[in-house]
Parts: sequence; C-alpha cells; structure tokens
Amino acid sequence: MTQKLIYEGKAKKIFETSNPNELMMEYKDSLTAFNALKKGEFSGKGQLNCQISTHLFKLLSKNKIPHHWIRTENKNQMVVVKTKIIPLEVVVRNIIAGSLAKKLGIEEGRALKKPLVELYYKDDALGDPFVSDDQAFEFGWAQPDQLQQMKKLALTINEILTPSFAEVGLKVVDFKLEFGLDPSGVLVLADEISPDCMRLWDMQTNEKMDKDRFRRDLGNIEGAYKQVLERIERIQV
Ligand code: TMP
Ligand code: ASP
Repeated sequence: MTQKLIYEGKAKKIFETSNPNELMMEYKDSLTAFNALKKGEFSGKGQLNCQISTHLFKLLSKNKIPHHWIRTENKNQMVVVKTKIIPLEVVVRNIIAGSLAKKLGIEEGRALKKPLVELYYKDDALGDPFVSDDQAFEFGWAQPDQLQQMKKLALTINEILTPSFAEVGLKVVDFKLEFGLDPSGVLVLADEISPDCMRLWDMQTNEKMDKDRFRRDLGNIEGAYKQVLERIERIQV
C-alpha cells in the first residue's frame, strides 16, 4: 500500500490509506517534552509504544470502549478509523504529580480522594493551556454533551486501566487521552495510550516507568518502556 503523509507530529506520522475512512498511524522513535523544547530518541521506541498501545486498545475493546484502533500491521504502524480530532487533551489524575504538583506547590505522590478530570486546549503555540468546560463550549471545541461523554469515558477508562495495571505491579498516576468523531459522528477514543502520555510508577518502589525519565533526565528510558510492555502483555485481553 502506498501512502501519502498527511501529518507529522512530535512522535507520530499519519498517512492516508486506500480506504478513505482509515488512516495509518506510524509511531516514531523520537521523544519530546516541554512542548518540544527538549528532544530525544531511541531506536525501537516507536515499536514499543505501538505494541503497548495495541495491547491497551485490545483491553479497551474487551471492555466495550469505543476507539479508533482497527489493527496493527507492522511493528510500529497501526490502522485506525479516520476521525476529526476534538482539540482537547483530557487528563485523568489518580495521584498528585507533574503540573498539578507544581501548580499547587504540593509534593508528588499523594493519592487524590477521587480521580480528577482536566481539560487542556490542544495548541502548541499557546503551550496547551488548562481550560474549563465552559471555555471549551464557548470557543466551539466541543459540545456540552460531547464534553460530558469524554469525561465519562475518561473515568471509565481509568477504572479499566487502574486495576489491570495494578495486577502487573504498575500504579496509574495520571494519563492523557484524545477523542475524535468517526465518519458517522460517533465519539471515539483516538491517538495512543503509551508511557509517553501516562505516568506509571512501580507499585513496590515508586520508580518512574514513563516519559518523566526523559523529562527529568533519570536515564534508562528504554529499559523502563520495555519493562512496561513486558508487564502489560501479561494483562489478559
Ligand atoms: P501534566 O502533569 O504535565 O499536566 O501531565 C498529565 C498527564 O498528561 C501525564 O501523564 C503526561 C500527559 N501529558 C501528555 O501526554 N502530553 C502533554 O503534552 C502533557 C503536558 C502531558
Ligand atoms: N508532549 C509534549 C511535548 O512533546 C509535552 C510533554 O509530554 O511533556 O513537548
């Protein structure tokens, strides 16, 4: 299949396919942080994230969550449903970390009383600012019913991921999701689910097993991602 590149992002390339309702998503070996101010890469990173995402989309399928994944064709390429991406990042947090810890001057690691859902407007030039539901509606990024559905799906996904990851010794600290509308207008989970967009801590040691190893120069990023894949593959799908 020859494909036309239609978009290249920080960690992925998107190609058209011969099917107008499907796209090919290729995971790159590059890694960025702080809105691409920090750049890196390691060979095989694309494959690891593609395999991790594949397994997690299968887990979500088993739990009846609507998503864009159709099949994984090569080690770092998956065929997905073509969606119109809603320009909001939906973050779910179980434990205080990252920007929330920084913003409030709280130490990382305290469990939240209940999971928090936050919205960020997807705009690199603005640095993906935190926005409210009302702002998302006012500026036309999503309808109120879509916002409600996205938040509900995000919490349900958290309820699926958290116990499954716990089985393989990983704490789901927080993660970011993106949603899109499929060709018939149905809201589905899009993008990827990988250690690039999640915080995962080892259950026993609290060791960081995600992109924070890169953001914070902790080393052994590849080892951590490999460990995540190895563990996640033990989750029954
Ligand atoms: P934050 O604590 O930096 O706001 O990040 C919350 C979660 O969202 C964390 O798991 C990392 C993920 N994330 C992304 O996937 N992309 C981003 O651009 C940012 C800022 C965070
Ligand atoms: N994904 C963002 C970037 O590539 C930010 C981050 O994950 O820290 O710069």
